Amino acid sequence: MILTSIINIVYIVRRSLATHVIDNRTQTFLNSLEENATIKTSKKTISKTDQHFERTYKTFLHSFVETYVSTTQNRTITLNYCPPVPPNLQGSLVVNNVPDNFSIATNSSYYPNVELGGHYHPTTCLARHKIAIIVPYRDRLDILKHFLYHTHQIVQRQQLDYRIYVCEQAYNKTFNKGIVMNGCFKEILKLQPDTPCFIMHDVDLLLIDDRNMYTCPIFPRHLSVAIDKFHFYLPYTQLVGGVLAMRREHYVLVNGYSTNYWGWGGEDDDMYARIVNKNLKVERPPASVARYKMLKHTHQKLNPSRMKVLRTAHIRIDSDGVNNVKYTLLNTTLYHLYTHFLIDVGEEPK
Ligand code: BGC
Repeated sequence: MILTSIINIVYIVRRSLATHVIDNRTQTFLNSLEENATIKTSKKTISKTDQHFERTYKTFLHSFVETYVSTTQNRTITLNYCPPVPPNLQGSLVVNNVPDNFSIATNSSYYPNVELGGHYHPTTCLARHKIAIIVPYRDRLDILKHFLYHTHQIVQRQQLDYRIYVCEQAYNKTFNKGIVMNGCFKEILKLQPDTPCFIMHDVDLLLIDDRNMYTCPIFPRHLSVAIDKFHFYLPYTQLVGGVLAMRREHYVLVNGYSTNYWGWGGEDDDMYARIVNKNLKVERPPASVARYKMLKHTHQKLNPSRMKVLRTAHIRIDSDGVNNVKYTLLNTTLYHLYTHFLIDVGEEPK
């Protein structure tokens, strides 16, 4: 009887496993069960299992496997939080060239831990912060490649639960960063509604000190304080362009970015006006840490009327932004190292 039971356990477990995703520990455990059973059964010929017996044990084993799997999963859930200060930060960093065999179109062997769509979370501890990195983009493939190659390793060392979203403006129309950011923000919330923290990140900026944490403190935080192009000095105190971290509720409170800036510049200055108008402060990490290298590229067409539009920033806050942004999402593609949104911003008003 005992012998028959063991054989049945093994048989039914194997069958029920076909419909379960079992982790390695469970598999090892089940293998050892099977080995024990084999040793015992080799001495005697086994009679055929009757239907009733199989049904009874199937029910029993099903619940056993469920319990075992959920116990092992719960064990993952009860991981400790990652330390407040990530232990493997390196501080000041050198920017390396992108290896020739690094591709962003196919699976990258450089980042085996990154899941499809550019998502990563630490597996040895529970991330303290979940973030979405929004990268507005158009037509700079080499720069994007460098950005992804460089940035993934840093945010992994920061032990964040992160996902990189590349938000590309479609067609050869005047760039409108505000619409691209707002559209991207909305699309991210459709995919990942619980995302609490957004890092708006220019694609041409590479962080060169990993102590500059990509997290969202209680106020919006301007992260790109010291850029090599500006000799590592903040050009003016109202600047929030480059890299900006904002909680979801703050982004909604300020109504996201203005959609009225066509061409390069201005939308970030408008964002500053929104932040202070809603009684938020802009905080900054020390310039000794918030350091960036700007990659060289050809610049977008400057928006000559940006200063004029900026003059009306305070009166447009609630009527021009993420609450009424118009765009068309043409495509969503999950690449290994990023989620790609292709966004049509429509026509620039004449
Ligand atoms: C533009 C901003 C830009 C800043 C720094 C300003 O003139 O309006 O959009 O971030 O210069 O380059």
